[in-house]
Amino acid sequence: MTASTEAADLFRRATGREPAGVWSAPGRVNLIGEHTDYNDGFVLPFAISQRTAAAAALRDDRVIRVTSTFSDEAVEASIDELESLFPTPEGTTPAVAEWAAYPLGVAWALRQAVAADGAPSEAFERGLDIVFASDVPVGAGLSSSAALEGAAAGALNDLWSTGLDAKQLARIGRRAENEAVGAPTGVMDQMASMLGADDNALFIDCRTLDANLVPLGAAEAGLEVLVIDTLVKHAHSTGGYRDRRDACERGAAALGAEALRDVAVDDLARAAELLDDVTFRRVRHIVTENQRVLDTVRTLREHGARAIGELLLSSHASMRDDFEISVPELDTAVEAAMAAGAVGARMTGGGFGGAAIALVDAAAIARVTTAVERAFAEAGFTAPRIFTVAPAAGAHRDA
Ligand code: GLA
Repeated sequence: MTASTEAADLFRRATGREPAGVWSAPGRVNLIGEHTDYNDGFVLPFAISQRTAAAAALRDDRVIRVTSTFSDEAVEASIDELESLFPTPEGTTPAVAEWAAYPLGVAWALRQAVAADGAPSEAFERGLDIVFASDVPVGAGLSSSAALEGAAAGALNDLWSTGLDAKQLARIGRRAENEAVGAPTGVMDQMASMLGADDNALFIDCRTLDANLVPLGAAEAGLEVLVIDTLVKHAHSTGGYRDRRDACERGAAALGAEALRDVAVDDLARAAELLDDVTFRRVRHIVTENQRVLDTVRTLREHGARAIGELLLSSHASMRDDFEISVPELDTAVEAAMAAGAVGARMTGGGFGGAAIALVDAAAIARVTTAVERAFAEAGFTAPRIFTVAPAAGAHRDA
């Protein structure tokens, strides 16, 4: 059963009526460009076929009632209450269950974005029932949160007739994540989820939000993308992620740059003199990673997917040694995949857990999978979950 059918079924059971529509948005894998998004830099993610669906219909009152397959509890808030629920003060947890802070946060951010121009329609003053179902694994670094935001944004935008475009909805999703959930993330995941397309990666300039499709060409090269979910859980609303973000801001300020996007590889020698060792290494990761994204886009276009292995590996090394966001499980996944013949591999997503990806010959999937499983067993790690992904369509209305 797809997430879409499941959401529609649960909607009927939970509300006793038919949904007005079903909207869905995918998770994503980032091919390369990690922690560059909030530095105004470049990223190259792709949307995957695992999706979160929202079945929804307007109500006659002003209540937004969200239900999902991942919680027994429905959560309700009146439209008039959203302003008092959000933003969530920094360092505190949302006033509603965290999963519900995503869709209610999207409703809040969307209303703030359009309210300035006055209510766009009669429907804008009505509440909704929204029911979510998802097959995006949570905590695996595959952006289950962006999928949830994207599905909610699609449903609200249509049912409230707010007429926003995909990039505006991506910004709204990010705002919900930053200010309602309290995770200080960039805009990559929401952009990938909204704008992804079959067979393509999405090259995004996170300063301008210009986004261009880049054919991944994995199938033509006889390759597949393997995801190795370490099952090590991470949460970006706490700890390391925010810390790295702060270090980047400090580094940019010390270098007199608006953002690390504006620092070039050639500026690193000067940066090494000005910055303390840790800040310098954080900066070096971002600056070299931005360059690797540009190199990957060019290499994919000129030489195809088989030629990007080295770039993936140097990205991983930079995250492990300079940005220090890898964990032993992720390093083991990368090393074991490479030793078993992968073309390239790296951790993907925010780090501190989650998943690695490996670019692998279609014929070698079983061999690489077994090698990684064996390496995990030998290291005494929990067995990873390993599966293939392919670039798939971005957010859309399903029914
Ligand atoms: C998480 C965030 C993104 C991005 C990545 C790291 O997925 O949600 O905005 O910063 O980490 O590249």
